[in-house]
Amino acid sequence: MELDQNYWEERYKEANTPWDIGYASPPLIAFLDQLENLDTRILIPGAGKAYEAIYLHQKGFKAVFVCDWAKSAFDLLRAKAPDFPEAHLICSDFFELDGCYDLIIEQTFFCAIPPSLRKAYVSKVEKLLRKQGSLAGLLFASHFENAGPPFGGTENDYRNLFSEKFVILRMSIAKNSILPRSHNELFFQLIKK
Ligand SMILES: C[S@@+](CC[C@H](N)C(=O)[O-])C[C@H]1O[C@@H](n2cnc3c(N)ncnc32)[C@H](O)[C@@H]1O
Repeated sequence: MELDQNYWEERYKEANTPWDIGYASPPLIAFLDQLENLDTRILIPGAGKAYEAIYLHQKGFKAVFVCDWAKSAFDLLRAKAPDFPEAHLICSDFFELDGCYDLIIEQTFFCAIPPSLRKAYVSKVEKLLRKQGSLAGLLFASHFENAGPPFGGTENDYRNLFSEKFVILRMSIAKNSILPRSHNELFFQLIKK
């Protein structure tokens, strides 16, 4: 099975989206609520229905960008936030993106890509962030029994993967995860070296 654009587009068309929790994730809200600068350039890759982007937009953040290669993913964002700038909806392969951001938010995108692409993810995120820019969000805290996606991992795996290019400010079990993910999500915040 190839986890290509078509695979994800079909998942949305079939409404086979069990990862979609239907609202912005509480640990992310707690983090986003601490941001004060409404001009912060924020990228949400693999954004899907983009609840966090809608949340930020409604709070007045003006430079929020979402990337997803499944076209249907953005239908909800367009409906809920009709004044969200069309130019900030990037329908493309994350690994082909250019740009410069202050903050990149991770929410079930890393776990959706094949593990063979994890090093490429780290390099891409590093390239897209300004110096001392930040990657923050959630990662599953254990491996899954079934074949992915989602693909899990451990805190140790992630520390080894990210530490060459990032300072790890926080990486610990999130306290406010949704029930099905409780104790199985790490909240992390990294700073580009
Ligand atoms: C598991 S879903 C998560 C969606 C959203 N973050 C959420 O939590 O509801 C993974 C998303 O990543 C997107 N995706 C996977 N690989 C991608 C790539 N290489 N470039 C852009 N989007 C990608 C899929 O289309 C899908 O919307």
